[in-house]
Amino acid sequence: MNSPRHFLQFKDLTRAELDYIFARTRWIKDQFKAYQQYWPLTDRTLVMIFEKASTRTRLSFEAGMHQLGGSAIYLNTRDSQLGRGEPVEDAAQVISRMSDIVMIRTFEQSIIERFASNSRVPVINGLTNEYHPCQILADIYTFIEHRGSIEGKTVAWIGDSNNVCNTWLQAAEVFNFNVHVSTPPGYEVEPERAGLYGTDHYEEFADPMEAAKGADLVTTDVWTSMGFEAENEERRRDFADWQVDLDMMKVAAKDAVFMHCLPAHRGEEVAAEVIDGPQSVVWDEAENRLHTQKALMEFLLLGHISVE
Ligand code: CP
Ligand code: NVA
Repeated sequence: MNSPRHFLQFKDLTRAELDYIFARTRWIKDQFKAYQQYWPLTDRTLVMIFEKASTRTRLSFEAGMHQLGGSAIYLNTRDSQLGRGEPVEDAAQVISRMSDIVMIRTFEQSIIERFASNSRVPVINGLTNEYHPCQILADIYTFIEHRGSIEGKTVAWIGDSNNVCNTWLQAAEVFNFNVHVSTPPGYEVEPERAGLYGTDHYEEFADPMEAAKGADLVTTDVWTSMGFEAENEERRRDFADWQVDLDMMKVAAKDAVFMHCLPAHRGEEVAAEVIDGPQSVVWDEAENRLHTQKALMEFLLLGHISVE
């Protein structure tokens, strides 16, 4: 049995593979918008395991699999044996004998890695404490749709150096762009945890306004990620000056876009005028989760396909 390809972190795919997936995304999205049926995954089953809440990830994977002709099964830790201490390795053996592809949202990255090592089928990271690769797949596709190539551009990351930030940093190495990161003291990037090859593609700024200066894309995320709720009050105080507001968007490039993986907290990490304003592309960004993940599942299950 050949070992399956997984998407556990952004750098698991090469630049050429990502370019291919984006080309397929364009085609799959166009077909979908034209109401053209495209069922390359007939009879395939996706299992989705959620140990944390989700709206977009569940919806985009479940709808996406149906739209490709397959079916999707939702499991969570509350009402499966996964929450009752069954070893991850055992669960992986069983689940991957009954399905064709698995998506997991969980806590530590090591959990999904253990699952993948024992899986007969491709495993996709639907968010861990460390990474959110499917999000950045959609984000970069969205940037390309709106502004063209991201190579050589500057992305300003304002806020927590969390799973989404780490994934932007990995993507910068793969696509050759720069990230200007500004976090409050004590929340700085941990390059090893981010899985980086080096420090060439990002720069840290104490002042968020400096990070945003001239940026082509300004982005942020919640101050408190899932699993860290106990730190909520402390984080609200620590992050108070790390809000993306209109003044910050003014120092970015004139045609800068604003992104947020959502869900957002208006008045915390982002001002309502920004997320609801003309530079925001957050709804396209959310929709593109669907299209990019359909292309991702097609690639992991069928490899490179030729279409007329
Ligand atoms: N952005 C994102 O992953 O959203 P959900 O938590 O709703 O899946
Ligand atoms: N950083 C956030 C992203 C949610 C989609 C979290 O992990 O909760």
